[in-house]
Amino acid sequence: MSEKTYPPSQEFAENAHIDAAKYDEMYAASIKDPEGFWAGHARDLDWIEPFTKVKNTSFKHGNVDIRWFEDGVLNVAANCIDRHLETRGDQTAIIFEPDDPEAAAQHITYKELHENVCRFANVLLSQGIMRGDRVVIYLPMIPEAAYAMLACARIGAVHSIVFAGFSADALANRINNSGAKVLITADEAPRGGRKTALKSNADAALLHCSDKVRCLVVKHTGGQTTWIQGRDIDLKAQMEQASPDCPARPMKAEDPLFILYTSGSTGQPKGVVHSSAGYLLYAGLTHKYDFDYHDGDVFWCTADVGWVTGHSYIIYGPLANGATTLMFEGVPTWPDASRFWQVCEKHKVNQFYTAPTAIRALMAQGKEPVEKCDLSALKLLGTVGEPINPEAWNWYNEVVGKGKLPIVDTWWQTETGGHLLTPLPGATATKPGSCTKPFFGIEPVILDATSGEEITETEAEGVLCIKDSWPGQMRTVYGDHERFEQTYFSDYKGYYFTGDGCRRDKDGYYWITGRVDDVINVSGHRMGTAEVESALVAHPDVAEAAVVGYPHDIKGQGIYAYVTVMNGVEETDALRKDLEKWVRSEIGPIAKPDIIQWAPGLPKTRSGKIMRRILRKIAENDFDTLGDTSTLADPAVVDDLIEKRKAQK
Ligand code: WTA
Repeated sequence: MSEKTYPPSQEFAENAHIDAAKYDEMYAASIKDPEGFWAGHARDLDWIEPFTKVKNTSFKHGNVDIRWFEDGVLNVAANCIDRHLETRGDQTAIIFEPDDPEAAAQHITYKELHENVCRFANVLLSQGIMRGDRVVIYLPMIPEAAYAMLACARIGAVHSIVFAGFSADALANRINNSGAKVLITADEAPRGGRKTALKSNADAALLHCSDKVRCLVVKHTGGQTTWIQGRDIDLKAQMEQASPDCPARPMKAEDPLFILYTSGSTGQPKGVVHSSAGYLLYAGLTHKYDFDYHDGDVFWCTADVGWVTGHSYIIYGPLANGATTLMFEGVPTWPDASRFWQVCEKHKVNQFYTAPTAIRALMAQGKEPVEKCDLSALKLLGTVGEPINPEAWNWYNEVVGKGKLPIVDTWWQTETGGHLLTPLPGATATKPGSCTKPFFGIEPVILDATSGEEITETEAEGVLCIKDSWPGQMRTVYGDHERFEQTYFSDYKGYYFTGDGCRRDKDGYYWITGRVDDVINVSGHRMGTAEVESALVAHPDVAEAAVVGYPHDIKGQGIYAYVTVMNGVEETDALRKDLEKWVRSEIGPIAKPDIIQWAPGLPKTRSGKIMRRILRKIAENDFDTLGDTSTLADPAVVDDLIEKRKAQK
């Protein structure tokens, strides 16, 4: 935690969309008259039928209902593409930088984007996809992923992207939960010089799905795949034959645009549902103001489109603003640790947005890989996904930003659609590790975790909630509105509960202290400990498992699993390896436990509830503040766990 502040340079502030005075004025106006504020900005979108109603929202548990611009009609893809054709048809919309640095980058203009999206949409229509149908996308970071999303939006289908690092099982669950009619995948996903066999994962997933699900396959690497006649369709071949015109369907503002599955503290991942108009408006506005995006800039968000960051800040936000957005297929450290910076140099990137975990990994490689590249086009740096530690912030600032660039630390969630707490680079003096202040229209509050009372003093620490709705907010959990209300609106009545702990300092700056639930953040990837546990206990040798996060130098948090084996099973290294492999195949490589500790017993209350608080402390090597263990059914298990923890490296 650092109290040093970094005000925007005068030059930056003068050229920025928003300076300090304007932020204060606009923020106050947005809270005083949210309808006026949001209606004013929403009118900049291209409406087929203008809205007359602006905000109709309730956070009341039992009756949570969120609608924005509900009688308006528009099309998201038309807003991201068609409305730019006249003024910037020949401007690059997407720069595609392939995994292989020797392969040619592609520059896709808005006109070309239009043609490809129309062709893709016509292929979907020819497969019988209609408005409201779900389409699962399981693709590498290639232009077809963008075409697929926008093609769905164009015809009113609802896309649900599954990160290409998820396993066949995870993919099958999402196809089935969403009731998708089509899966879009590719033969292989090249990343860091290696190839993931996406199509064969898709084949394995589809064994568990309805045989009506069709599979559109992008022949990307040309790698060999099995082909099931009647089910598998060669997408590129179909696109070539399809018409390059496809009228954008008029959609209601509140029609769902996409579902994105994300981890919660309990149960299976939830399908977060986002709307059309409100989401698009919020993604676009935060992209423009928070990154101070100006016409002609090249914007690069390094996330994968499989995560919400990729949805909002590779595709929808930038394209809504007529931006040039970069899609990168590779990884930061291949062929070597200068890849990010080489891509910045090559494409003259102006705004660069990445995760603290990537910064830490690159920091470990020293300055040389950065310093050998020309980063003079950079105007702004951003981070997202987890709290950034001061060392990483300083390195980012000094080595990448040469001490001259604003850093925006943006706090938000899959559920929020876009940034809620963030500096505005021309307005806000930043403090390393703080996501600073609310975006327009956002009313953050800090509640006392036990009483649920709002802490009104400026200096406060507790749980972070939001007092009123904003257009980018999720609307429901797909197929389970009750779970939506239960998860976000039941613990603290009348507020949206974020699941994050937070401190507000004397200057009113917000500092996220991490999740207060059983969600962990591994390399910026959100994981539910319950998901990893249920994968582990599905193994025949495992009787019980408890998973917690622990501090990890590079990943932010690592996955720590306590495993109780079945009677008669031996606790061997071979079993440990097997469990790692098992979790990889049940969920995906990102869920592989970093440490597995054998636990003949787990600390439980007399009613049988696992005391995770204690397990967290033990995993953190913090044995002195375990708190009261006398209520445990068997307090002796704790000593045993501590002893075993000490024996770990
Ligand atoms: C965490 C990613 C601190 C937080 C956009 C949140 C952050 C969760 C930040 C959401 C940040 C995200 N500082 N923590 N700037 N950004 N988080 O849904 O715990 O993958 O609740 O969305 O990431 O993760 P999700």
